[in-house]
Amino acid sequence: MDTLLSESVIAERVAELGRTISEVFRGRPLTVLGVLNGSIVLVADLIRAIDTPHQIGFLRASSYRGETTVAGDLTIDTNLMPQIEGRDVLLVDDIFDTGRTLVRLLNELRSKNPASIRTAVLLWKQGRSEVEITPDYHGFQIPDVFVVGYGLDYNDDYRHLPEIAVLNEGDY
Ligand code: IMP
Ligand code: MG
Repeated sequence: MDTLLSESVIAERVAELGRTISEVFRGRPLTVLGVLNGSIVLVADLIRAIDTPHQIGFLRASSYRGETTVAGDLTIDTNLMPQIEGRDVLLVDDIFDTGRTLVRLLNELRSKNPASIRTAVLLWKQGRSEVEITPDYHGFQIPDVFVVGYGLDYNDDYRHLPEIAVLNEGDY
């Protein structure tokens, strides 16, 4: 596998994002809401780079990719999620690809009456969007390649890799 983004490059960028987000939400009732499972590594690093008090929580979105993909099939589970009414929510996911996952999640979250919702992703895949929205904060724009590591998976493997690597057909 070829490394696309090294551990140190990611760490530097996440620290920058943390500083930006700290200034935007300082003095606000912030909840960082991670999308399971892909966001766990980013959330763990990002919250330690945000120096204004905040709460964290998670919800789950499963999109059934890989061999069993059914296009547009997305299951959302909010059972583990904390109360967000009246709070500023920062929704954090690993990657913005078609954007459909974030659009669905935003619709779901709006019904819970947060004060505001913004989105942050580590990666933004270029030329793939099928929606009107764009992420409010992103770490890196990347080309249309399949990547794994730093939380991102291929069939639930490779999430533990500390860098972002390109998964080529020969690697499966
Ligand atoms: P979207 O709804 O098309 O934006 O897809 C978002 C989800 O697809 C992400 O949360 C990932 O789980 C998955 N995904 C999209 N591209 C990749 C990739 O290159 N590697 C691993 N997962 C990906
Ligand atoms: Mg995923």
